[in-house]
Amino acid sequence: MSSYPTARPRRLRRLPALRRMVRETTLSADNLIAPLFIRHGREVVRPIGSMPGHSQLSPDMAAREAEQLAELGIPAVLLFGIPAHKDAIGSENFDPQGIVPLAIQAIKRAVPELVVISDMCFCEYTDHGHCGVLNSRHADNYVEQLGEGYLLNDETLDLLAKASVVHAQAGADIIAPSGMIDGMIATIRHALDDAGQQHTVVMSYAAKYSSGFYGPFRDAAESPPSFGDRSQYQMDPANTREALKEVALDVDEGADMLMVKPALAYLDIIQQVKARFDLPLAAYQVSGEYSMVKAAAANGWLDERRVALETLYSIRRAGADMIISYWAKDAVKWLK
Ligand code: PBG
Repeated sequence: MSSYPTARPRRLRRLPALRRMVRETTLSADNLIAPLFIRHGREVVRPIGSMPGHSQLSPDMAAREAEQLAELGIPAVLLFGIPAHKDAIGSENFDPQGIVPLAIQAIKRAVPELVVISDMCFCEYTDHGHCGVLNSRHADNYVEQLGEGYLLNDETLDLLAKASVVHAQAGADIIAPSGMIDGMIATIRHALDDAGQQHTVVMSYAAKYSSGFYGPFRDAAESPPSFGDRSQYQMDPANTREALKEVALDVDEGADMLMVKPALAYLDIIQQVKARFDLPLAAYQVSGEYSMVKAAAANGWLDERRVALETLYSIRRAGADMIISYWAKDAVKWLK
């Protein structure tokens, strides 16, 4: 009797069509969300040095980009704003004439069918670059207990509620709070409901880690913290149990969709959240995940297309229904 194997998985890999028939994970435009960075002005296209292929766009140019994305079948965009003015409490975030409300209106006018998601956070809008109100300027009474520069949770919630209503009234379909502020989901849900925005979806950045992979984004959104880092509100990369707790709280508070961020270094978290919770799950393939491949590809060390699609499949395999990715547009073209 021959000692050659009878089980031969390779049989199913011989032909491209056979491989397609047994492919277990799908990836299509339906799964992708494209982030856009918006700044004031007209006909502005300002390349982002740390993220080749991406630019800060004025609302008119963002609307044009949105048309192309919709044409490719991408269902949604995620907006980040670069304000004209920054201050201690990030006032432009709740100004109806602020940069994101203007962009939402321009995009909705151009492509009404495209889902517009507003990233709801204060770090782009505050002069100190943190994701909310700090004790030093607005509540000196906490300084002694909490140390200077501590991010005040409940004061920040009030502002998140206000800004979320403004963005929803401008036409945002989804509000996506990304600040890891305790209670942000319930607060935003109630504020939206009270304002007659019961139909507005809340997508929670439920498990967001304090990550070095956000490096290029802070250049793109002009939002680096002026002191310290975000580890007093974003999660410790060493923790899993805590992520599941964060997600459970957001589910209880009424989140419609969940998110894990970043993606590639947290595939285990995506998998566990998917297994335990019955809500649509997004993963954010963040700026550093994009830029490190871009940089290696520019040196001829990696094949960008191959590696980008491989990472996107890995995120889908882990269980993400949706992937926010700077490769959204390229990926759809590559998959055609
Ligand atoms: C705002 C926010 C950040 C990102 C998304 N929303 C920056 C941060 O938390 O420091 C990062 C996205 C990326 O790196 O692509 N809080």
